[in-house]
Amino acid sequence: MESRNINLSKFLARRTQFMRASEIRELLKWATEPGVISFGGGMPDPRYFPYNDIREITDYIIREKGDKAFQYTKTEGVDELKEEILKFMTKRGTKVDNINQILVTSGSQQALEILGRIFMDPGDLVVVELPTYLAAIQAFRVYEPIFIGIPMDDNGMRTDILEEKLKKIYSEGKSVKLVYTVPTCQNPAGITMSNDRRKHLLELASKYDFLIIEDDPYSYFLFKKIDFRSIKSMDTEGRVIYLSTFSKILIPGLRLGWSVASEEIITKMALAKQAIDLCSPAFCQYIAAEALKRGVVDKQIPIIKKVYKNKRDLMLEALEKYFPEGCRWTRPVGGMFIFAYLPEKIDTSLMLEKAKQKKVAYVPGRSFFVDGSGWNTMRLNFTFVNEEEIEEGIRRLAELIKEEL
Ligand SMILES: Cc1ncc(COP(=O)(O)O)c(C=O)c1O
Repeated sequence: MESRNINLSKFLARRTQFMRASEIRELLKWATEPGVISFGGGMPDPRYFPYNDIREITDYIIREKGDKAFQYTKTEGVDELKEEILKFMTKRGTKVDNINQILVTSGSQQALEILGRIFMDPGDLVVVELPTYLAAIQAFRVYEPIFIGIPMDDNGMRTDILEEKLKKIYSEGKSVKLVYTVPTCQNPAGITMSNDRRKHLLELASKYDFLIIEDDPYSYFLFKKIDFRSIKSMDTEGRVIYLSTFSKILIPGLRLGWSVASEEIITKMALAKQAIDLCSPAFCQYIAAEALKRGVVDKQIPIIKKVYKNKRDLMLEALEKYFPEGCRWTRPVGGMFIFAYLPEKIDTSLMLEKAKQKKVAYVPGRSFFVDGSGWNTMRLNFTFVNEEEIEEGIRRLAELIKEEL
């Protein structure tokens, strides 16, 4: 049959115009080439994946539970896994009343998409941190909310600024629907919100009647003891939707995350999920349940924490040693990222082309800012790169920055 060139744009739904390829992925295609030291991406260190444990568990699941694990399962998730998540959460200080308040998702990324789908209508006001997690912006953007960016300082989101904004918004007869926050070891900024700010945020949620999405992949990796409570654990009104994931504490390849919220919200989320993928893979869910049961996750966390802390220290030392005056950066108490602010004349997106020549990769910060700022910022991931490469990578970056000044 004769092939014709069709005009695809004529067929595409309107919402596809809000689907943008991740700038990061496009820009960093070369970051995996040999010789490149990559602080881009946000991946765990594969040397510490629990290969043997997963092998043993997988054999066991196939042998003992294959009939259920190879089958479709409930949209809400495998009960056995939800029971284990409930215990895990409770042990870590966030009490969950029953498993009906839990939804297992295909990565916590899916929960972000679902939350956009069930809560955001075009024009709804959604508050995010400046900067915030890029793939949350991507997930939400197709539902056409209006983002309101709130700056952060060392104590996390500036809830005083949020309060001022809320007063103004409400005085104009409008309202905020949702606040999305990564309060602990934030991606990308590496900042942790103080307990006072968490309480303040909840007070504001109650006063101004909005919901909070608390996205928490990183609180497991705190490098020093700090006093913090999940926002969910302080939520007495069912306003918080808590998200976490097995990606960093076990393996991202399982593609499993979970949400904790009121039963009413979980029911709506499950309804949306049903249309997306019917259920998350039962096989992966049985593996994750068994990994929790056997203490594999509890064993992994301190191992990873030690390795990541050392890498963070190496990166902070190198930054101190090499980065020129006029640069500043966050000193994360945990997580996977350091966020650097360079002198304002530097555009880190433009600089990336030269970084390619120097064989060092980072993520330009601009796409993490919903207000179009952040052109002079960069996110540096310290978990994927090997220890020996950190100093050299930062040295190369510093050289580049000096050339730009
Ligand atoms: C803040 C944040 N939320 C959600 C995710 C998604 O994680 P996953 O879909 O692997 O559970 C990530 C991954 O890096 C993240 O950093």
